[in-house]
Amino acid sequence: MEHEFWHTRWANKEIGFHQGTVNQYLREHWSSLGGYPEDTVLVPLCGKAHDMWWLHDLGHPVIGVELSEVACKDFFEEGATSAKVHPGQPFTVFRHDSLQLWCGDFFQLVPDDVRHVRLVYDRAALIALPPAMRREYVAHLTAVTPDDLRILLITLDYDNREMQGPPFNVSDEEVHNLYGADYHISKLVTQHLAKDDPFAKRRGLSSATESVFMLTRKD
Ligand SMILES: C[S@@+](CC[C@H](N)C(=O)[O-])C[C@H]1O[C@@H](n2cnc3c(N)ncnc32)[C@H](O)[C@@H]1O
Repeated sequence: MEHEFWHTRWANKEIGFHQGTVNQYLREHWSSLGGYPEDTVLVPLCGKAHDMWWLHDLGHPVIGVELSEVACKDFFEEGATSAKVHPGQPFTVFRHDSLQLWCGDFFQLVPDDVRHVRLVYDRAALIALPPAMRREYVAHLTAVTPDDLRILLITLDYDNREMQGPPFNVSDEEVHNLYGADYHISKLVTQHLAKDDPFAKRRGLSSATESVFMLTRKD
C-alpha cells in the first residue's frame, strides 16, 4: 500500500483495525515463544496497539515501527504518558523508558537498528500488505533481524471473492511459502470468527479464520 493510503486512514480516523484492548492471542500465546523479559521485541507496523504496553509491562524493551506520526502521538497521549521525541531521518523516535516508537518506513530499518531484537510480534502487519509487499516485508524482516529470531504471527484467512483487503487474506500455505525457507513454523491455534462477529458482518464475510503461528529462525 502507498504511504498516503495509511496517512489518510489515520487523518480520517478510519482505524477499524485498532483494538482498544490487549489482543487475546497475544495474552494466550506470547509465552509459547519462550522469551525472557529482557528480550527486545520488535512490533512492525505497530499502529497505536495497546499490546505494546502489555509487552513493556512484562519487562520487554519494545521497538514499534509505524509510518504515522498521528498514531505515535496518540499512543503516548492515550497511555497518559509523555515521550521524549528525537527527530531524525529516516526515523523520528518517540521514547518512554524502554518503549520506543520509531516513526517512519519499516523498509528503511537497517540491521544495526534492530541488533538487540530477539522477538517479533506481528498482529495486522503482514495481513495489512498486498501480496507483493508481503514478500518484501518478510524478506526485509529476515534480512535486518538477528539469526536467533522468534515471531508470534497472527493471520486472517477468508474467501477473497467476498472482500478486498486490507486486511488481506493470508492462508497457511502462504505462511509456509513466505517463511518456510528460513523459519520453523508451528501453528498454535486456528479460530473461526463467530457468525455475528462485527468485522465479518461489516465486510460481508460468510466465514473467516484467525490463526496464530510461532516462527523460529532456522540455524
Ligand atoms: C492494519 S494497521 C495495524 C496496526 C497494529 N499492528 C495493530 O494491531 O493495531 C497497519 C499499520 O501499519 C502502518 N504502516 C503501513 N505501512 C507501513 C510502513 N511501510 N512502515 C511502517 N508502518 C507502516 C499503518 O500506518 C498502520 O498503522
